[in-house]
Amino acid sequence: MNLKASKIISLPKIFDFRGNLSFFENSNQIPFDIKRTYWIYDVPGGEIRGGHAFKESQEFIIALSGSFDVVIDNGENEMKYSLNRSYFGVYVPNLLWRKLENFSTNTLALIVSSISYDETDYVRDYGEFKILRNEAKK
Ligand code: TYD
Repeated sequence: MNLKASKIISLPKIFDFRGNLSFFENSNQIPFDIKRTYWIYDVPGGEIRGGHAFKESQEFIIALSGSFDVVIDNGENEMKYSLNRSYFGVYVPNLLWRKLENFSTNTLALIVSSISYDETDYVRDYGEFKILRNEAKK
């Protein structure tokens, strides 16, 4: 399996005195076909979301308002992306452990996924995640 890396994706920004506009589309800005959209909001101070990996699901995460950090762990190294603008987000390929933390008040986190919701796609055990990463490297 080809293990991909997470990365920041900058979105188009249409400047306008009436207010700016940004967008993303299947396959153009986002490197997968979008199957599902969900969002996270009303996060109490100090809470952490995520804390798991996906076997197949790829995601693109964006802070539509407010700010938070996306911490990505590939089983060996950790990387932190600070999201605080609505014109860029982070692409998270499958088989990466990810958590969302350090939410500011009134944050709205938008997430698009490459698959429909499927609990069997979740890897919620870190030990199992490490095994799957090592298998995928072979
Ligand atoms: P979960 O993905 O574990 O939350 P997070 O990773 O953001 O902390 O999802 C929390 C609950 O919401 C879980 O019971 C499943 C449900 N859920 C859906 O029904 N559909 C979805 O698209 C998502 C993302 C979650």
